[in-house]
Amino acid sequence: MIKNLKEYKKKKKIFLDLNKNYYDLNKPVVDDASYDTLKKDLINFEENNSNIISGNKIKNIVGYKPSDKFSKVKHDENMLSLDNAFTDQDIFDFYKKLNNFLNLNSDTRIELLAEPKIDGISASLKYVNGKYIQGISRGDGNYGEEISENLATIKDIPKVLSKPHSGELIVRGEVYIAKSDFKSLSDKFANPRNAASGSLRQKNSKNTSKIPLKFFAYGTIFKNHDIVEKQSDFLKKLKDFGFKINPLSKIINNENELDLNYKNIETKRASLDYDIDGIVYKVNDFKLQQRLGNLTNSPRWAIAHKFSAEKGISKIKKIEIQVGRTGALTPVAKIDPVNIGGVLVSNATLHNEEEILRKDIRVNDTVIVQRAGDVIPQVVRVDLTKRQKTSKKFIFPQKCPCGFATVKEFNETTKKYDAVRRCPDKGYDCNLITKEKLKHYVSKDAMNIEGLGKKVIENFWNLNLLKLPQDIYKLDFNKISKLEGWGKLSADNLKKSIEKTKKINLDRFIFSLGIRHIGQENAKILARFFKSVNNFKKLTNCKDQTYTDLIQLDGIGDTQVKSLKNFFINKTNKKVFEQLISKLTIVDHIFSKKGKFINQTFMFTGGMSKMSRSEAKKIVENEGGKVLGSPSKKLNYLISGDSKPTIKKINQAKEIGVKVLSEKDWYRLIDF
Ligand code: IVH
Repeated sequence: MIKNLKEYKKKKKIFLDLNKNYYDLNKPVVDDASYDTLKKDLINFEENNSNIISGNKIKNIVGYKPSDKFSKVKHDENMLSLDNAFTDQDIFDFYKKLNNFLNLNSDTRIELLAEPKIDGISASLKYVNGKYIQGISRGDGNYGEEISENLATIKDIPKVLSKPHSGELIVRGEVYIAKSDFKSLSDKFANPRNAASGSLRQKNSKNTSKIPLKFFAYGTIFKNHDIVEKQSDFLKKLKDFGFKINPLSKIINNENELDLNYKNIETKRASLDYDIDGIVYKVNDFKLQQRLGNLTNSPRWAIAHKFSAEKGISKIKKIEIQVGRTGALTPVAKIDPVNIGGVLVSNATLHNEEEILRKDIRVNDTVIVQRAGDVIPQVVRVDLTKRQKTSKKFIFPQKCPCGFATVKEFNETTKKYDAVRRCPDKGYDCNLITKEKLKHYVSKDAMNIEGLGKKVIENFWNLNLLKLPQDIYKLDFNKISKLEGWGKLSADNLKKSIEKTKKINLDRFIFSLGIRHIGQENAKILARFFKSVNNFKKLTNCKDQTYTDLIQLDGIGDTQVKSLKNFFINKTNKKVFEQLISKLTIVDHIFSKKGKFINQTFMFTGGMSKMSRSEAKKIVENEGGKVLGSPSKKLNYLISGDSKPTIKKINQAKEIGVKVLSEKDWYRLIDF
């Protein structure tokens, strides 16, 4: 039993050292039982004294963050995550997007392959001429950690394929621990997924082999699609090669079958010996998968249908306002902690002020809270039978906690005022927006600074170590090494990962700035257009022409242009931008060297019969070309689709010497 905070702090330090020895240095210095007792004591103390504990809780520490113990390897093709579907409408929208992109009739239902979504850790395996040669973790999707030996300890992963295969083969799948095996492990880990992750990150593969990991193979990369025609056939092939594939995969032809299968697997869920958190639907035809291609983070050809939300009952203690990166004020209910589906929930979103009024939610009310997958838990409704006299209406503040008056924006499309109240977009002038911008700046898809996660940002922010992004490059690592939960090794690691990310591609840098309405796709379009940070810098002059030039870009509209201007007009934002570019090495945007449309620009008018505009755009961009939204002197080709092309555009284009191609010419040009 730990008696007071002083003892807790002392023992926490000892525990962190043990952890480092065990996981990172691979030198366990105490026996498992002593380690477990110490851990339990610390967690107990944290649970009973949550009001006085600051910093990272022992409960949340999974293993010890590896330093640079695994080398980084680039994936042959990025390992992506999946978009989520929760409702029938989301599924309908998925079908709609598929049909729109492939230019199919709206009532077409292309064949899908449904498979349980295993809640484990993904891995990518490389075979050459039938022999296992390398295994990589997902990492940031682009680069993974080389964990070949650790993966090789898994029995389900064949070291030599059972059937001959010449050349390279990439097999992707999920590493997991069976529920039954997890039960017999010591309770060092909160759940099977954490256990699998901790086990795979062992420096010494002998330690991995002690933990019974399993593997379900589920797919490959586009490059290996020539082996068979369909996803379902590929699974059969994987089985022949000696892999374990999930026995519950099923071909789906319409919503009805999809619904039956979903319900069937949801009922089976508890009795399966592995954790699943939904069903993945994949377009079964490999050719169609390739035509659909990928967005930055997720494929267009697949979606995860998450299991329905789990609910819990709790009481609202108070309502706080959180300010998001884009200035949105979100009311958050602080509730009595409640366990919902294995996760302890103590915050739930109330969305916005209208929702609070509509649901008549008050402080001290008993409420139903729901949690679905990794989505933020939300308050669904009030249990009015439990309302007491002490319940208090919440008065929504008209000011942002930073002091600025808030606004509700007028939405030109819906012709209504937004429900969301915002701190006007003054960027880095609002300290709360700035804190969120910082979290965005360091995040995986942005600068990707390992070891500088949301919690660390919060902590450094509170300690006044970080107030603006450029402060990251002035951090005092000596001071950091002395903070609670830190040491010389972790401070050094942080320093290294900051140094490592100082060289950054232009599109990532633009995305990192966290400018409203400039997501990853827009950042790429801008990088492609400006090519270098010096060109991009022209935006800081705020000359109208620089901005009107952007309108011609397909994918950039008024909203984005206004937002960019609004960002760079602000002096603080400009200063942050300038300081950042002086600290970083921003790599010019490079066009893919291979494509046949390098340095060429296209514009489309009219509909085509065999493909959608989006697919045509994807083809141009994959081949290194650019698609413009309006004719200009820079335009090389205008493609005139057979269905209702705009004659005016064609004439305009001809006048300025642009080559006009028919739909047929276009198909010929791209060998479609
Ligand atoms: S297919 C994203 N199939 O879910 C590319 N993924 O949230 C296509 N996952 O990182 C993935 N079970 O590791 C696919 N049967 C399954 C899966 C599965 C689990 C994981 C996968 C991915 C994550 C996305």
